[in-house]
Amino acid sequence: MNPSGTSYHQLPRYPESLWRATTDLPSFPRLAEDIETDVAVVGAGITGITTAYLLAKAGKDVVLLEAGKIFNGTTGYTTAKVTAQHGQIYHELIQHFGEEQARLYYEANREAIEFIRDIVGGEEDKFGLKLEDAYIYTEQDGKTLEKLEQEYRAYEKLDIPGEWTDRLPLPIPVTGAVKMPGQYRFHPLHYVKHLTEKFLELGGRIYENTTIGGKIETDGPLSLQTKRGNHRITCKYAVSASHFPFHDGKGLYFSRLHVERSYAIAVKPETAYPGGMYLSVDNPTRSLRSASYQGEELVIVGGENHATGRSICTHQHYENLEVFAGNLLGAISIPYRWSAQDLITLDNVPYIGPITADEDRILVATGYRKWGMTTSTLAAHIISDHILEADNRYAELFSPSRFKADPSIKTFIVQNAAVAKDLVSGKVDMSDADMSTLQNGEGAVVRHNGQRAGAYKDEEGKLFLVDTTCTHMGCEVEWNEGERSWDCPCHGSRYGYNGEVLEGPATEPLKQLDPES
Ligand code: FES
Repeated sequence: MNPSGTSYHQLPRYPESLWRATTDLPSFPRLAEDIETDVAVVGAGITGITTAYLLAKAGKDVVLLEAGKIFNGTTGYTTAKVTAQHGQIYHELIQHFGEEQARLYYEANREAIEFIRDIVGGEEDKFGLKLEDAYIYTEQDGKTLEKLEQEYRAYEKLDIPGEWTDRLPLPIPVTGAVKMPGQYRFHPLHYVKHLTEKFLELGGRIYENTTIGGKIETDGPLSLQTKRGNHRITCKYAVSASHFPFHDGKGLYFSRLHVERSYAIAVKPETAYPGGMYLSVDNPTRSLRSASYQGEELVIVGGENHATGRSICTHQHYENLEVFAGNLLGAISIPYRWSAQDLITLDNVPYIGPITADEDRILVATGYRKWGMTTSTLAAHIISDHILEADNRYAELFSPSRFKADPSIKTFIVQNAAVAKDLVSGKVDMSDADMSTLQNGEGAVVRHNGQRAGAYKDEEGKLFLVDTTCTHMGCEVEWNEGERSWDCPCHGSRYGYNGEVLEGPATEPLKQLDPES
């Protein structure tokens, strides 16, 4: 029971994000011909749309290509904090990159915040933009508290406006917290929808349900190919603004990124929310911010990160958030729940720029470590400046080629590749589960004809059976019962219960099997 005496288990049966549920989503045709353009941007989330807008504004002919529906990647499932307080990052940046680069990281994010404010341009209510103080906090002593104190000292060194405090506006018994004033929250999809409209007004073209696959021609003019219809897009530059780059180009991105899922619920609280955006640095993490919804304030409570495809009971993560929210604020209702997937780089700094040192016509932006609102915006500027041949003082810090010579990174890549190898077909535990015992609405890894298979029984009792071998690089997918999806632990591909691709890098569905055979 929570303090109000109401019981838990108010979670919606199916996941849906507050942002997607409260936005009229436009739709666009599939690409049905060969085309030529200055720039092809692949991925229509906040990075792709901001990049496309900036380039179209500078006079470039730009085509935006999306494998599924626009805004359906991480942008539609974020907690949407517009902040330069990216957890505990500044002390680490000083240690790895030095003070000058650490300060640049802050300034790049600060400029991104200003850009978003300019786009919103006095229409704060329309975009749900609200000025907030951001806090990172701990309830622990010892090493965790010391680390947070170190982070605060990094603020002082870098002249980042901040404050040390041992009290929060929320009733959480913290031992310490670092406040960064002057940050924002907003409605991410109202914002990107507005940018999309501006892009279209500038003559931009958008194609949905258009997956890039097949051979990317880099000898001579750059040319991409669609998976369905084999249409060619000939362009001067291509931008990968999806999660994993659509083309690796020997950049070893699959070994240099790992994937995490995290969860969020939108709660109608019993007690008034005092404002502010919060992130605990303890384990499990907790994140809070509010959002306007039908004339009321909801509180978005997030956290419970784990490596994709490696959590046994994903619904438990939502329940943990529900208990936390109930104890802290009292939960009258929980209209929405959703989860998101984020990529994290080897050194926690995103990869933004040319895919390799030798191929500067293909640009990537990935590895935002959950801080996609400002990072996407600064990425769009770095990439558009590269294409427009303008200097950008942040390009070097974020360059994907930055650690060519670091031997410890090479060791990590080898180890990471070994872990992935263990997850491929034949090296994971077989299941003894029998699909005949599945209840309606349940899924599980089962044994079928002596082979590992994935079974799901829908609400009407219809059985779906898939081969659990990921079509990307052959790892074994696991059942995610919170989202009713098959998730791959290697690079985060996700499939629906019937095997259709929900999230790449995979572009082919899981093989369907016949339950009767
Ligand atoms: Fe790469 Fe599954 S093997 S996502």
